[in-house]
Amino acid sequence: MENFPVINLEKLNGEERGATMEIIKDACENWGFFELINHGISHELMDTVERMTKEHYQKCMEQRFKELVATKGLEGVQTEVNDLDWESTFFLRHLPQSNISEIPDLQDEYRKVMKEFALKLEKLAEELLDLLCENLGLEKGYLKKAFHGSKGPNFGTKVSNYPPCPKPDLIKGLRAHTDAGGIILLFQDDKVSGLQLLKDDQWIDVPPMRHSIVINLGDQIEVITNGKYKSVMHRVIAQTNGNRMSIASFYNPGGDAVIYPAPTLVEKESDENNNLYPKFVFEDYMKLYAGLKFQAKEPRFEAMKAIESNVNVGPIAAA
Ligand code: OGA
Ligand code: NI
Repeated sequence: MENFPVINLEKLNGEERGATMEIIKDACENWGFFELINHGISHELMDTVERMTKEHYQKCMEQRFKELVATKGLEGVQTEVNDLDWESTFFLRHLPQSNISEIPDLQDEYRKVMKEFALKLEKLAEELLDLLCENLGLEKGYLKKAFHGSKGPNFGTKVSNYPPCPKPDLIKGLRAHTDAGGIILLFQDDKVSGLQLLKDDQWIDVPPMRHSIVINLGDQIEVITNGKYKSVMHRVIAQTNGNRMSIASFYNPGGDAVIYPAPTLVEKESDENNNLYPKFVFEDYMKLYAGLKFQAKEPRFEAMKAIESNVNVGPIAAA
């Protein structure tokens, strides 16, 4: 089996730039995932984020999670649970406007550190989007622009802990899904594993690696690239021992951004008439996704196509 793609971003500045761009391209085409090292975000900042996230979990979240498990009687389940996940989470929004100051129970220092981390991740996401553009033959800035809408991108962070689970075969840490948005940057626990992606019908571990950032591509990148890059199914298996921290940041289009395949990636004769992917407003996709997250993405694309053709046909039918 091939190895999970690891990209040393520092090599973009030297004579191995070409080879590194090729690894990124191969990862985007064949994995939908890759792991970044030497990404420029300071290890010290990452250590602080990790320490404060774990402290916050123990202080404010763990007890609540245990109570939830008890209330729902999850400790003793005997059959597969398909309607919830074995995770404890909270969300932070950074763009278009930060809501960090409104999130309850966070220490001021933790808010400050998460803001700083988010700013670094935002820059990294935009740098990565341009690397994708380069590999796709799109002009620099194309993806950033495609995500812009009227207020700029949506950028947010889901802070998760996957506590030890007595029945990981019956309750997933997080059920299989593709991510709806653009590009996702994940800072995951360096010791407790659990994240897996689906490749060639097999679940493959995304290996924990200290101070790395895992990148994956969401449904919007699949649409804009006309399927050249695909969003890939992934899931989290909770462990019977050990609590897994994961901090996933989602760099997504703005709510009113109109998403459609880049014209230069649509091959004239073959794709144009049997359009593979729909054109839609991103927030409409998110409304659909909210109810269908844990299902295959294809019916979501089909549903958006149906809406699109209604919109297009409407005025003609009325005339
Ligand atoms: C997600 C996700 C993975 C993880 O939140 O969409 O896939 O490791 N998270 O928490
Ligand atoms: Ni995901």
